[in-house]
Formats: sequence, C-alpha cells, structure tokens
Amino acid sequence: MRIPIMAGNWKLNKTKQEAEALAGDIAAGARDVKDVEIVLCPVYTALDSVGRTISGTALKLGAQDVYWQESGAFTGEVSSTMLKDAGCVFVIVGHSERRQFFGESNETVNQKVKAVLQEGLTPIMCVGETLPEREAGRVEAVVSDHVKGGLAGLTAEEIGRVVIAYEPVWAIGTGKTATPEQAQEVHELIRGLLRELAGAEVAERVRIQYGGSVKPDNVKSLMSQKDIDGALVGGASLKADAFLSLVKFNEK
Ligand code: 13P
Repeated sequence: MRIPIMAGNWKLNKTKQEAEALAGDIAAGARDVKDVEIVLCPVYTALDSVGRTISGTALKLGAQDVYWQESGAFTGEVSSTMLKDAGCVFVIVGHSERRQFFGESNETVNQKVKAVLQEGLTPIMCVGETLPEREAGRVEAVVSDHVKGGLAGLTAEEIGRVVIAYEPVWAIGTGKTATPEQAQEVHELIRGLLRELAGAEVAERVRIQYGGSVKPDNVKSLMSQKDIDGALVGGASLKADAFLSLVKFNEK
C-alpha cells in the first residue's frame, strides 16, 4: 500500500547543462515505470532547468536543503516558498553531510521540516548513526533522537506527510551497504517510533527510504524488506543507467 519512492540526491554535482542531460535520460528511460515515485534532487542552480526537463512526466523535483524563514536578511539561504516557486515537491532535510559539515542539529532539522510542511511540500527527513555510534551499540538511541527531535511538535497529520530516510553514515559513499537485515531492523524501529508519535494508521502509511551505497546489485534485496519503501541514492543516481536500474528494481 506504500508506493515505493526512489530519490536521486545529486549532492554537489552537475552543471545546469549536465543536470538537464541526466534528467532527460532518466525521464526517457522511466517512461514506462508505473507505481514507483521518482524524485530528482539537483543543486539549487539546476532546479529550474531540471524542472523544465521533467515537466509533463511523472518525475518530481526535490531540493537538497532549505532555510526555515520565508524571507529576509539571511544571506545565502533559500526558503520553502522559493523552492515551491521553483517547482519542487520534495525537500531533503537533515542529510548527514549537513549535520557533519554545516552544523545541522535536530532543532534546525525540526524547524526546516515544519517550514517545508507549511508550504505543502514533502520533507525527506534523514536520520542515521555513525560508525562509532553503531560500534558503541547506540543505533537505537541515535536514531530515536533524530526521529523524535526532527518530528517534535508535529501533529499526527503532519507526520503522515513526511518521508523518512534511514542513512547509516558509515554506508554513505563508502561502498559498504547495510545488509538488508541490518537496514530492516532500523526501519522497523523507526516505524515503531512513528506509531508512538502518530498512531498505527499514520505509521503504516509513512514511507521509510534506505540510503547508503544503494546499487543495482543490492537494490532488490533491500527493497524486499517489509519496512523498506524506497531508496535515497547518491553516487548511483548520477548515471542514468544505474539510477534507472534502481527505479526498475521490480523488473529484476
Ligand atoms: P551514496 O548512494 O553515494 O552512498 O549516498 C547516499 C546518500 O547520502 C544519499 O543521500
């Protein structure tokens, strides 16, 4: 009942022209894909050109970050109103690279999630532990903290409009994927937290993506897990063939 959602997080890659070409190839290759939601998240400067390229297709546009204020003296920031204006439907919030390099905290993630929801857009809220945290047996504590902190103060209805991405930091860009069982264990934990926060019906509805070295050869086993509803993809989303093979995981 949860529609799988495959999102490409292009991170700091691709000029406008390159982004347009990649989006065009993905759109062409995904024409016959049914029942999978596909999201492309280019850099801000390529949002407009990618948006134009995929307009009229089933593909959706997403941004990689946002600021929670709507406008004002906040040099360098972009608001959810502006992202909506640029054609975005999704916004990645709280990616571990933002937590690690740009001082993102549960509090800022929470403000961003609220701003995105207020604009009627869908946040893809990222959570996940580092390797030292996993080795110290703190996966449950860290993930619970991220989920509860990021969703603090939201109504059940609002929580129902969020997509969550579980991205263990040690699996991002390292080629080390969590095993399907390791991922499922944390996805199940997250769904349990959602049940506590918003009730069983909402928890069943919220989609939880896995992210971290998702590749054509591991996507099927990850997607076969009960609580894995999609993938947030970095490296493999930068090549049309690889990303299309993820999107078509069902046909493998
Ligand atoms: P990789 O797929 O390159 O490991 O990146 C995952 C990620 O961070 C997606 O947001």
